[in-house]
Amino acid sequence: MHLQQLFSFAGGWLGFAAAQSLSSTLASHSSFSVLYDVLLFHDMLSDVDAARDATYFAPNNDALKNLADFGINLTTTDPNIARAIIYYGLVNGIHSSDSIINAGDVQLVHSELRPPLFTNVTKGQAVKLTTRATKGRPSVVLETGLEILTKVEESDIAFANGLVHATSTNMVLPHNVSETSRLIHQTEFLRLMQESGTEIELNSLADMTLFIPHNEAISKFRPILDTLTQEQLAAAVTHHAIANEVIYGSTITGSNRTLETVGGGIVQIQRGGQGQIFVNNIEVLRSDLLLYGGVAHIIDGVLSSEPATSISCQSALDEVNITNKSTILRFTGQWITSNRNKLMMVLMLATLATLIIMPISAKLYRSRRKRWSLNEELSSSKYGACKTYD
Ligand SMILES: *[C@@H]1O[C@H](CO)[C@@H](O)[C@H](O)[C@H]1NC(C)=O
Ligand SMILES: *[C@@H]1O[C@H](CO)[C@@H](O)[C@H](O)[C@H]1NC(C)=O
Ligand SMILES: *[C@@H]1O[C@H](CO)[C@@H](O)[C@H](O)[C@H]1NC(C)=O
Ligand SMILES: *[C@@H]1O[C@H](CO)[C@@H](O)[C@H](O)[C@H]1NC(C)=O
Ligand SMILES: *[C@@H]1O[C@H](CO)[C@@H](O)[C@H](O)[C@H]1NC(C)=O
Ligand SMILES: *[C@@H]1O[C@H](CO)[C@@H](O)[C@H](O)[C@H]1NC(C)=O
Repeated sequence: MHLQQLFSFAGGWLGFAAAQSLSSTLASHSSFSVLYDVLLFHDMLSDVDAARDATYFAPNNDALKNLADFGINLTTTDPNIARAIIYYGLVNGIHSSDSIINAGDVQLVHSELRPPLFTNVTKGQAVKLTTRATKGRPSVVLETGLEILTKVEESDIAFANGLVHATSTNMVLPHNVSETSRLIHQTEFLRLMQESGTEIELNSLADMTLFIPHNEAISKFRPILDTLTQEQLAAAVTHHAIANEVIYGSTITGSNRTLETVGGGIVQIQRGGQGQIFVNNIEVLRSDLLLYGGVAHIIDGVLSSEPATSISCQSALDEVNITNKSTILRFTGQWITSNRNKLMMVLMLATLATLIIMPISAKLYRSRRKRWSLNEELSSSKYGACKTYD
């Protein structure tokens, strides 16, 4: 219904606008003159014109000038970075500002930024389409890497195969697991990856879903984690990752799904009655942090490979009480103005990534680690008996 309206609406306009190509549309708007020159310089005009049923979140002159002031001039920078940034704005599907505002929920859409260009998400790195109220009226906002928000300044400029929306800041390319954990202050998880020797493995996964226990959740488990051998710790940490399936929050429904983890165990994910997302009965506090290799969700506990009993176990133990949610902010994203150095870092690191190819043996992926059971550890630890209710 919406779609049909949109098409007839777009059709009317396109007839009038003589069905201009994307590049001609950009050329005819002076606020895109820098972008047009960049596309011309990198010989990308025909690439962007090949897009069909697409929406282009196009950086306007202000956006590209700011970026150049930070030291990333898209004309003179590594052409792969220029391409990556341009393709990240070009998303699948026609999304008018009305359709984004009326959707009532965050939508994740795939972009044309695909491997091997600064992402390991096969279907194309995702962009979160969302809204924020400005002066009482909702306006379209994008969330990209490191929770950075980008505002749409001018919307619904039609071209032959879709719509253009102008942004006045840049979308940030999603970063690897380590840098993302560090920059969003989930440093306990970063430390765990380092201690367990799983950092390289987790950073190199393609199409991954990662459940990151927040700092406090991990701290509460510290006494137990500290008793594990490195092999057990590695199994425990990789039990928080799923390879080869990017599970965005919006795709999780009320029916329970069982998934195999990189650590070799299983986890169950499901949406609760009030719309919350649970993984093994542990609540997701913040969903859909975009990563270089997929997506991460911040969770309110540490996952055990025995899901059916892990929650009972936690609530039975004072020492592992991780239910004080007031300490965990439900992150809301951040504007680039307060995070300029983040943007800088992201882009510079992207340059490095072209030079570094992670040597990672396929053996790592085939190996099925010994399952790690939280309950076994708990029952044999000084925390004593762990009640189970099954
Ligand atoms: C980028 O560098 C080129 C060549 O030096 C220059 O002409 C252009 O104005 C610069 N772009 C921006 C946005 O500063
Ligand atoms: C992308 O994923 C593949 C498969 O897991 C991996 O071999 C490769 O190293 C990853 N690339 C990067 C840059 O992490
Ligand atoms: C989810 O499904 C599995 C079997 O696939 C079952 O063992 C488990 O009890 C279910 N969990 C919930 C919360 O329904
Ligand atoms: C967990 O902590 C909360 C607040 O700190 C407290 O109200 C609750 O009773 C605790 N639960 C257990 C099982 O200790
Ligand atoms: C939760 O933690 C915060 C900060 O540590 C503390 O101020 C608050 O009292 C705690 N809430 C409960 C219910 O214990
Ligand atoms: C993650 O990215 C940072 C910044 O690009 C880089 O220094 C680091 O080596 C990467 N870590 C891994 C394990 O790939």
